[in-house]
Amino acid sequence: MTWRERYADALMNTFGPPRLALVRGEGAHVWDENGREYVDFFGGIAVNALGHGHPALVEAVTTQLRTLGHVSNFFTSPPQVELAERLLSLVDADGRVFLSNSGTEANEAALKLTRRTGRTRLVAMEGSFHGRTMGALALTSKAAYREPFEPLPGEVTFVPYGDAEALAAAVDDTTAAVVVEPLQGEAGVVVPPDGFLEAARAITSRHGALLWVDEVQTGIGRTGAWLAHTESGVIPDIVTLAKGLGGGIPVGATIGLGDAATLLGPGNHGTTFGGNPVACAAALAVLDTIEKEGLLEAAIARGEQLTRAVTSAPEVTGVAGRGLLLGAQLANETAAAVVARGQERGFLLNNTGPARLRFAPPLTISEADVAALGAAWADIVTEPTR
Ligand SMILES: Cc1ncc(COP(=O)(O)O)c(C=O)c1O
Repeated sequence: MTWRERYADALMNTFGPPRLALVRGEGAHVWDENGREYVDFFGGIAVNALGHGHPALVEAVTTQLRTLGHVSNFFTSPPQVELAERLLSLVDADGRVFLSNSGTEANEAALKLTRRTGRTRLVAMEGSFHGRTMGALALTSKAAYREPFEPLPGEVTFVPYGDAEALAAAVDDTTAAVVVEPLQGEAGVVVPPDGFLEAARAITSRHGALLWVDEVQTGIGRTGAWLAHTESGVIPDIVTLAKGLGGGIPVGATIGLGDAATLLGPGNHGTTFGGNPVACAAALAVLDTIEKEGLLEAAIARGEQLTRAVTSAPEVTGVAGRGLLLGAQLANETAAAVVARGQERGFLLNNTGPARLRFAPPLTISEADVAALGAAWADIVTEPTR
């Protein structure tokens, strides 16, 4: 039996059948069980910031595991404290960090934090994705994900993403928080109009509500900045992180800024694994390597190259995004076929909708790998004539 057949017999069918069984990775390349090589333009859904098997990540994880692997939160360890300090330096404001293991957990902690304001009403965006646990799901707009699990916690109002007027109308003095992605990743990389985050900050401040920026997908260099929201100059009350932070090792972080830093107190929240020394060492290695290898600049340069490559085909009607988080709109609903043809030609691609592709390759992807996709692109996007 193949790995995929054994998967079908052993794993719950929550994801549908896996496209491939992958057995090895190096840099931006992965290999399947038959030894076929692929260039990874998906990056484990915007996770493999350093690509696969980066020596700095391997070294940090193995050294830390040999030194001290796990201690629980009855104790601390140097990597945990150092990681929290490093994350605070990225937001450049006074705050405190809660460490967890995934994006949905980072958001779950944030949601509990908002409850400590004494208010319960939340405002989220249409098209949002914040995770699959019950609290994060309550803030996720897609009906197909939500409806089978209702009633969900909280009183959540959804407003159109980027619509400052609708947001102003939805927020009042009973609103605990507004949660917003700087760019919506799962929606296919949707960029809000200029000034939207600034408007969200002004509206929440006016009503004493918290502004919560979900940077789970956009953070840690993905858009060519450490955090996607900082360019707006806005200082939120909560920032959530995961995905790229651990470079493939599960790490989530909830950063509370200003007064929000101290809303969660002893006994209010917890986790066995969160802040684990190995996961924290991994995250520190990711942050160090992004800095040492100039990966913020690389994300911008490769993102521009990838945008040029992808828009070279007439089937692509537009590309949106920043850095190496890009969404391409197709003229027709051919995205699934494009992904399949990409795979046949040795490229792992992703579609977020019938006519929408998303690109989130490792920040380390080479100019040559992007050029290779560019060279094959016309064949990949063009429907074969029969
Ligand atoms: C913006 C955002 N928030 C939260 C999540 C959930 O993260 P996780 O899948 O690690 O729970 C995701 C995942 O795609 C995301 O894109």
